[in-house]
Amino acid sequence: MYVPKNVVTNQDLTNYMDTSDEWIQERTGIKERRYADRTKETTATMGVEAAKMAIERAGITAADIDFIVFATLSPDYYFPGCGVLLQRAMQMKEIGALDVRNQCSGFIYALSVADQFIKSGMYKNILVVGSEKHSFGLDMSTRGRNVSVIFGDGAGAVVLQPTNEDRGILSTHLHSDGHDAEVLAMYNPGSHANYWREGLADFDESTIADMFVSKEMVEKEQFYPSMDGQAVFKKAVVKFPEVIMEALNQNGHSPSDLKLVIPHQANLRISQFVQHKLKLRDDQVYNNIQRYGNTTAASIPIALCEAWQEGKIDKGDLVCLAAFGSGFTWASALLKW
Ligand code: ACO
Repeated sequence: MYVPKNVVTNQDLTNYMDTSDEWIQERTGIKERRYADRTKETTATMGVEAAKMAIERAGITAADIDFIVFATLSPDYYFPGCGVLLQRAMQMKEIGALDVRNQCSGFIYALSVADQFIKSGMYKNILVVGSEKHSFGLDMSTRGRNVSVIFGDGAGAVVLQPTNEDRGILSTHLHSDGHDAEVLAMYNPGSHANYWREGLADFDESTIADMFVSKEMVEKEQFYPSMDGQAVFKKAVVKFPEVIMEALNQNGHSPSDLKLVIPHQANLRISQFVQHKLKLRDDQVYNNIQRYGNTTAASIPIALCEAWQEGKIDKGDLVCLAAFGSGFTWASALLKW
């Protein structure tokens, strides 16, 4: 994992917007988050730092990686994706690089793709990365406070390899429901031209120019993420337990068999709700959102890395990764470590 050095506390945010440490901690559990260096760090460079560590710990070199899957919602460029930027920065061979656009579920979606390539025998060393530089695209005024206080920057990575031992990724479970696609979204810049919903972007319909990013859109600051927090909360607390149970049921396990659940670090209240619903003990659910905020595609690999470093996962342990987020999409992966 890699997180930027710059710690931003809740108190620091009060310099930009009308908020308080008390409000943020009570609603989200977050105490602080990290913000990347504005000009010296990007989503891809943070991914590279995490990838270097994962590759070293796997006992291989960058030259051994034969496929990259990179999950992010805050890419360096609209296109091409961060996968190729990482391939270039790490001077890797001309291997395949796939970008995954599944927001908070991005890491598990990425992992499931890699898992299938490993199981089919196509690749032997797959690098899976989740990385986000949210801080460059948040509305730091009071208008954007319900979203901006939640998110932080960082990256995590894993290397996936085949094994003949009785362990690894037992199963992955992916879901989506686009009905609420606009409930948690960044609409602009985009090619939608208000096709799906009225009023998401202002532009001059009489001209052929200015559709993708219009003067009106910029003037009205219509380029920030938007979220109906309560709608997200309500759906998340249903789908998280559902997708965890799906993974357990498929493999003949129950919640009591789990050593650890590593939920996407969306919001501490959501994780507590899930823990309560599945009747899990405190030591069975890993949370570090207090220190990093919500780092979207990076949150699960960062949490996995810290949990492992803290000795909370041993060989043979049953670990469940679970996520829910924009789309809506949700997913789980059951691992035998
Ligand atoms: N500081 C102070 N006050 C705030 C802030 C803030 N940062 N943000 C909103 N408020 C105010 C609102 O303006 C509102 O004021 P009003 O009553 O005077 O109008 C009041 O607080 C309540 O606003 P709500 O939006 O209703 O606040 P809510 O209690 O729903 O909490 C929150 C907002 C924390 C986002 C909550 O809805 C939530 O936890 N939702 C889950 C969404 C989530 O966790 N998303 C994470 C990203 S998505 C993902 O990873 C799955």
